[in-house]
Amino acid sequence: MGLRNEPDRWGSAARFFHWAIVALVVIQIPLGFWMVDVYEHYTETYGEDRLPLVLQTSMAHHTIGFTVMILAALRLSWRLQNVTPELLSLASYQRWLARFTHVVLYLMMFLYPFTGWAALSAYEGEFPIFFFGWDSVPRIVPQVPEGSRFAYETFAEMHRFYWKLGAAVLGLHIIGALWHQYVRKDGVLKRMLPGRLSDRLSDRSSD
Ligand code: HEM
Ligand code: HEM
Repeated sequence: MGLRNEPDRWGSAARFFHWAIVALVVIQIPLGFWMVDVYEHYTETYGEDRLPLVLQTSMAHHTIGFTVMILAALRLSWRLQNVTPELLSLASYQRWLARFTHVVLYLMMFLYPFTGWAALSAYEGEFPIFFFGWDSVPRIVPQVPEGSRFAYETFAEMHRFYWKLGAAVLGLHIIGALWHQYVRKDGVLKRMLPGRLSDRLSDRSSD
């Protein structure tokens, strides 16, 4: 399979970006909840021994989030330099719905990391923002006292809200993929699966 897209199928680079981001998001969401849980224990049982776990979960969550953002930027720029496989057999409202869902998913890949990053940037205390071992990622908004308009909590609330919005749109996206596979049987899922899985799916459908 070629690296670049063709008019009727995604190239291996686009498939790699798609599934690498899915894998990271699958880890990132439970990790986010775990990290918040650790924060709470940490503030309840403030002490030296809790610190490492707070920092470890934070380092993993920030690093994965920034990696998603970088991959999403590379993915978008790659997409703009390639043909985009069309969904020609669909009614125009269905094509519109698919496109709308994809635009929202692209937005999510940036809004999640940016709101998380902004929350920690606005935090008035000292809390590291990590990218792998680097613990001083620059702040993107000014530090302000708790309770002011653009404080930690404003952005954290957005970050928590997107989780629900993202889950709803993602649910629609997955239902769409399964609908193509099992109702329409038009090979749309197959054209996005990585090479080997895609071959296996085609073997089965020709049984
Ligand atoms: C793909 C990217 C990301 C996803 C999917 C994601 C997801 C999540 C989730 C599910 C939570 C738990 C929310 C809750 O308790 O209701 C969370 C919390 C949090 N995340 Fe992220 N996150 C991402 C990127 C980032 C980045 C890059 C940062 C910072 C550099 C970050 C900082 C935070 C912070 C500070 C919280 C705690 C918010 C609070 O106080 O409730 N996140 N994230
Ligand atoms: C974090 C989760 C996911 C995100 C952010 C995401 C995002 C996207 C985006 C933005 C596109 C449009 C690609 C483009 O036009 O450049 C796309 C296409 C696609 N996604 Fe996902 N996706 C996710 C999960 C899934 C899952 C779990 C499945 C399968 C069950 C799936 C199946 C597909 C398929 C089949 C296409 C290709 C549609 C076509 O050929 O036009 N995605 N995805």
